[in-house]
Formats: sequence, structure tokens, C-alpha cells
Amino acid sequence: MVSVAFDRLEIQGNILRGYRRNLVRHLVLEVRNRDAARRFLGVAAAGGSDDVPRITNEAPGRARPDAFFNIGLTFAGLRALGAPQDTLASFPTEFVEGMTRRALKLGDFGPGAPEHWPQPFDNPARVHIVASIYADFKASLDKAQAQVAPAFTIVGVLDGRSLPNQKVFFDYKDNISQPRFQGIDDPEQRRVDEPKDPLGTVLLGHPTRFEGLEFGVPVPRELGFNGSYNAFRVLRQDAAGFERYLTTAAERLLSHPDVGQLLPKGEEGWIGAGLDRVGALREIVAAQMCGRWRNGVPLALSPDSPLPEPGVSETNFDYPRGSTCPAGSHIRRANPRGGQIVQRIANRTRRLVRRGMSYGPDFDPKLPDDAERGLLGNFIGASLGAQFEAVMYDWINLGLQDPDITGSNDPLLGANEPETSWFDLRLRNGGHIRLRGFPRFVWARGGAYTFLPSLPAITYLSKLTG
Ligand code: HEM
Repeated sequence: MVSVAFDRLEIQGNILRGYRRNLVRHLVLEVRNRDAARRFLGVAAAGGSDDVPRITNEAPGRARPDAFFNIGLTFAGLRALGAPQDTLASFPTEFVEGMTRRALKLGDFGPGAPEHWPQPFDNPARVHIVASIYADFKASLDKAQAQVAPAFTIVGVLDGRSLPNQKVFFDYKDNISQPRFQGIDDPEQRRVDEPKDPLGTVLLGHPTRFEGLEFGVPVPRELGFNGSYNAFRVLRQDAAGFERYLTTAAERLLSHPDVGQLLPKGEEGWIGAGLDRVGALREIVAAQMCGRWRNGVPLALSPDSPLPEPGVSETNFDYPRGSTCPAGSHIRRANPRGGQIVQRIANRTRRLVRRGMSYGPDFDPKLPDDAERGLLGNFIGASLGAQFEAVMYDWINLGLQDPDITGSNDPLLGANEPETSWFDLRLRNGGHIRLRGFPRFVWARGGAYTFLPSLPAITYLSKLTG
């Protein structure tokens, strides 16, 4: 059921459907001059100015702009704009506290602890707005940035880009599975067969999958309605360490008595042309950790080879008991689909819209280096607590969804330590081999919880007084 009051022109773009541009620039803004900031927001929401980028809505139409422009506000940002006390008090606790104070829930300790975050996220009090520009050319990013600069203090600039072939670092194809929403036609997602999600999964003020429950709408309704939340994360990826661990694991597996149940002798060619046994085992470990082969083919449908039977889907699969996708793999943890998880009521309610792009220099596995690189991730939904945090805490870092993995972390991005980490590789006979000793491959370098207001809400904010 689509809500009567739903108007796509009033919703910020990039929430219900992705832009799929080559480049992104996230500007981290501080509101120093309240009036200048409010004026900017008013013009940006109304459009029609040559001097201020227009906020892109959900239906930019055929005349696609050179640069797509969207904003998210932190709690500190709402306060800096002068939002009244009853408004501030109506936002949920996790948003009010902000990402740094939720560090333990998110696994942001050790190298990922907020005290190690570089500028601008070392000082969350100055992080008021994350303004994101999406474009195909750098000149469009520069132009929009120059238009933003006069109204704010730019405290951070983070550039990201799409890697070739839809890949992310660690060399996996990404952005295959995204939620789809009732009443929204996304040509990119037509091939997906998963049930559509109600709008309330991602937009405030609409029905959710929970019987009779909706996530709270901040007041006044003009501000809260049709808004959403974003966990903006700067996630560093240790690409060299990841590749190194794959080799270590493969070499250990060579002499394991059950390795034939993982890779029967002579089948290396099914894993990749020209691969030797270590090379093929490396790919199997990588695939099982993710739940997809690095080319995107899902293990649930093609467990033994990334070269599937013709017609095998990338997206239409589920996790029945005995599924050939390991319960501990990244994609099964992050979206258990219809699987029999412990928190059965939570199936498909913790859906996250993912809009990520990579940052940092290219990585060449033949010439590994430790340069800073990773993912600028946006994890969007109607509740940071019940969705993003619940996924990170319960499923990624505790494994509470299945007794077979409880107590272990996501092997790709969990808060792992070599002393305690484990991951069960699934064997063809249904048994397993336990991998141990892997470190953390992904850790936070910054981020912020932002509220993504509707366009009328941005206009409302621009008219605040005082
Ligand atoms: C640098 C960090 C990360 C990397 C390298 C990574 C990688 C991947 C890859 C390769 C996929 C498979 C592509 C697809 O199904 O679209 C995937 C899917 C997914 N990831 Fe991540 N991811 C990262 C962080 C996260 C985080 C922090 C979360 C959320 C808490 C997350 C949630 C998901 C979800 C929900 C899916 C889709 C699962 C499905 O619907 O089947 N990822 N990720």
C-alpha cells in the first residue's frame, strides 16, 4: 500500500533509487552564520538560482542535472540552525548522541575508535551538515562546492569514485542487492524478485512491516514527515592485509584432511582460468566470507563455481535451512532474507539502502601497499537504532541470528582480533572447516549520523527564526 500523502518531488533523491554517477564529493559543513545557512537552504530547496545548487528530488526527470546535490543534518546541525527545543527533543536517542557516542555498539574500538579519527570527524561538534554532490565530472563537483562555500565553513572534503565493473576494494562486485519500495519503479532493480518493502522501512510517517508500528516522526510533522536517517561511514579497508590473509588461509587449507570437500582435486579450473590450487582456494575463502564470488555470483545458487549455469540469478535467492551460503558470510548476516533467524520478526525489517563509493588510490594485488583507501558508505533507513545499529551490533558483530555463528563476527568487516576470530567454511558434504586467526580488515575513520529531511522540511528549516 502506498501512502496517500506520498509525493516523490518532496523527497530527497538517492534514497529510494540510486544515482549511479562516477564521482561523489561529501562536504562536511559547519554552520557559522545561521542566517547565511538558512538562506542557502531555502534557495537550494526552491531551486531556480544560478548561484546555489538545487536539492535533487526523487524524480529529477529526463533533464538530469550535471550535479546531484543532497544534504543530511546532524543533531548538532539542527541545533546550530536554531531548531526549537521540542523539535530537538523529538529525535531518537541514537541520533541525538551521534555516531561517536555509539562507538561500542558499532564496533568502533581499537583502531576504529573515534579518538583515532582524523579531521573533520575528530570534532563532531563542528560536523553540522554533510552535503553530497554526485556527478560524472570533477568540474561539476568543483562548481557545486564553490557555490556552497560562501554560506558555510567547509571543515572536510571527502572524494569518492566508482571503481570499474561495479567493484569495491577487496575486488568484489557490489551494489547488486538493494531494497525495492512499494510504488517505486526502479528499472535497475526490475530483475530483483525479493518482496518490495513498505515505504516506512526508509521514510518516516509511512507504514512499516511491523504490525501497526511506525518509527517516530520528529515534530513538527512538516520537519519529520518523509525524512530518513543516514549512517555516513568512512570505512578504511586493508586491501593488502585481506589478500595476505587469503593466501595464509589457502596455504593452511592445502594440508587439511577435508580440503577435498572444499575443492576436489582437478576442479581448480572451475574457480578461475589458470589458477593453481592455492589460487583457487583463495577465491573459495573470499567467496564464502562474502556470500558471493568476487564477480557477484551468489553462493546460495552457485556454491561450487563462479561460472554458474546459464540463467542463474544474481539476486533471486533465499536461505533455507542447509543453504549452500555460509551462515556467517557478510551478505547473509547483513540481510538474512526469509531465512529462519532467531529474531524471526526482524526478517526484512532491518533493510538498509546502501549508497557507497570507494575512496583512495587504486590497489594492485601484485604490488600491495598500505595506502589509505576504503569505502565512503551511506546506510540509509527509517531508524538508525532498529536498522543500521541492529545490523551492526546483533548480526555483524555478535552473530545472534543463528546459533551456528553466535559469538563470531562478520569475517569481512567485523571487529575481529586474530586471537579470537573464527569463520566456518562450508563443505560440500555439509560439514565445515573452521578458519581462525584473521584480523580486522575494515575499520572506521570517521562518520556521522544525519537526518535526511524532505524538501518541505528543508524549507521549514530555512524559515526558522531566532
Ligand atoms: C568496507 C566495508 C564493506 C564492504 C567491502 C562490503 C562489501 C559488500 C559486498 C561485496 C556485498 C555484495 C553485493 C550486493 O549484494 O549488493 C555487500 C552487500 C551488502 N552489505 Fe556490505 N560491505 C561493507 C560494509 C557494509 C556495512 C557496514 C553494512 C551494514 C551494516 C553492509 C551491509 C550490506 C548489505 C545489507 C548488503 C546486501 C545484502 C543482500 O541484500 O543480500 N555492508 N557488501
